[in-house]
Amino acid sequence: MDKKIINIGIIGFGVVGAGTVHALQKNSDLIMRRLGAIIKVKKVADLDIETERSISLDAGVLTSNVDDILNDPEISIVVELIGGIEPAKSFILRAMKNGKHVVTANKALLAVHGTELFDAAKRFGQDIMFEASVGGAIPIIRSIKEGLAANRITELVGILNGTANFIMTSMTNDRRSFNKVLKEAQGLGIAETDPTLDIEGWDAAHKIAILASLAFGTPVPFENVYVEGIKNISPEDIEYASNFGYCIKLLAMAGCDGKNVEVRVHPAMIPYDSMLANVNGSFNALSIHNNAADEIFLYGRGAGALPTGSAVAGDIIELARQIMLNIENRVPSLGFQHDSVISLSVKPMEQVYSKYYFRINADDKPGVLSSISGLLSMAGISIESVLQKGRNNKGGVPIVLFTHEAMEKDVRSAILEIEKLKVVNGHVRLIRIMED
Ligand code: HSE
Repeated sequence: MDKKIINIGIIGFGVVGAGTVHALQKNSDLIMRRLGAIIKVKKVADLDIETERSISLDAGVLTSNVDDILNDPEISIVVELIGGIEPAKSFILRAMKNGKHVVTANKALLAVHGTELFDAAKRFGQDIMFEASVGGAIPIIRSIKEGLAANRITELVGILNGTANFIMTSMTNDRRSFNKVLKEAQGLGIAETDPTLDIEGWDAAHKIAILASLAFGTPVPFENVYVEGIKNISPEDIEYASNFGYCIKLLAMAGCDGKNVEVRVHPAMIPYDSMLANVNGSFNALSIHNNAADEIFLYGRGAGALPTGSAVAGDIIELARQIMLNIENRVPSLGFQHDSVISLSVKPMEQVYSKYYFRINADDKPGVLSSISGLLSMAGISIESVLQKGRNNKGGVPIVLFTHEAMEKDVRSAILEIEKLKVVNGHVRLIRIMED
């Protein structure tokens, strides 16, 4: 019997677009056996149809006109891989309005306009799937929506940006400066020419905002996500962290106590023998804490043409299965029924509790340490340990303090007071500590 053909259209023939076609071509026989149908890439739209790519397409497939996809009644799945907010958002809305399911890898769009897109999918009776938007090849979204559907998720802690993790790993291994390692990463094609989104934490923030919505069934207004990048981490901080049994990673975290959610991205010191501390180079990982399954740890490639393409292709296959069964919305966009998504408030960073590392550059004079510890004590912050090493070449001494758990608001006001001391030079460096 002839196999059913499911036509798809891909908008964007860049790295991930080419990786998606590659994944579909490379494993086409296997996919056909698993699906019982043929997935046909009917059109691929890109503004640049001249550049030679390593992937070959049949004649007539490549087009510079997106309407060839959006208006083609034979195309039932549209894959958006151009990134950015516009025109990606308009293309997705038009595709759904025209009766097409959508697959996207666009984390910035979902983090900022997810609610609008999920509402539109519901209204038009279409599905929008986005496995490749977080963690590249790692099936994180499907695990949260389906595998862990019987669990109450309490916390997510992950390394969701490969560029930042590559930089932190190299800085840790070689004790080199952030700027030197960033240049090297750019040379290797790991970091973008404009690395802002990766090194300042925005990319990881988009991803953890999406995951928090899925895990807790709530919209997360992106402006409420706390974001701090890795630019200010120095080899000195890495050395002190290591002296105390920690390494420094850019972590993305989300938690829920049933009433409030906490969503944040910042560098953190973690015990060097923890699983996340051993996620190195450009790899990604996520630890999911649940009330039934306990902890799940997912690890893999968070970027790259074929790994990310395989996640996009996985979503295409899932939608093709629904088409074969003539069903839609088998699993709602956020994994919660649309009318059961409830708005939980996002806790302001000032109210978050953590342990802290401070590095203070101070004059080497009697009484300095007691002035600093006095200010911390007035703010109700308890010190766990102190380290003061020899003078630096400017005559100052680095004072390193580790605190017990304290509230961010108290820590910030104590730092302002410490920085006002005449014997303290420059800014106090602060890194949060995550122990489990
Ligand atoms: N730029 C991202 C990273 C990959 O460095 O992890 C795409 O999400």
